[in-house]
Amino acid sequence: MKITETYEGTLERTLFSEAEIAAAIERMAREIASDHKGQPLLLLGVLKGALYVTVDLARAIARLPDGPSEVSVEYLCVSSYGNATRSSGEVRMLKDSDTPITGRNVVVVEDIIDNGFTLDYLRTLLGGRNPASLTSCVLFDKPYHRLVDVPVEYVGLTSPDEFVIGYGLDYQELYRNLPYLAQLRSWVFTQ
Ligand code: IMP
Ligand code: MG
Repeated sequence: MKITETYEGTLERTLFSEAEIAAAIERMAREIASDHKGQPLLLLGVLKGALYVTVDLARAIARLPDGPSEVSVEYLCVSSYGNATRSSGEVRMLKDSDTPITGRNVVVVEDIIDNGFTLDYLRTLLGGRNPASLTSCVLFDKPYHRLVDVPVEYVGLTSPDEFVIGYGLDYQELYRNLPYLAQLRSWVFTQ
């Protein structure tokens, strides 16, 4: 059976198509490439949600005619949500990146920013390791409930104020492999 058939009965609506997401990633790739021309760049993806956007961003940068002198891709893994649909505010490092970032140009790549705790935690932690530069790239921005004012230099798309899934984002570890962004039907949370 087709996996999207299982998913589709639980989806309220599509928010951003594959093509819209690809276009947003290409735009961010151009911005990041132009800000790091001729310099080595480290893309640091935040697992698990940013798995897909990090890969697609790295490839989009490689397709550009001009940009960084070299690109490394690393991941770290944090958890803040458990299985709830609102962040607890408590961010835990599950697996740190084992790459030294001192003196390097680091772009932290996140799937989505909501209240801002996750990115704020990471920027404070990584900033303490003395990178040459530290910026953030977020594919989906939910600006409605920000509790910490954390800078985001590269923003993809503004998400509606809903719990969203797909393109790396999960609900109870499902839907990450949906190739587009969607809103879940409310009965999925309440059953
Ligand atoms: P923040 O700490 O509230 O900014 O939330 C950031 C993290 O919460 C993201 O890295 C996501 O993993 C998760 N998150 C926030 N909003 C959503 C959502 O709508 N769907 C799925 N995960 C979300
Ligand atoms: Mg995340």
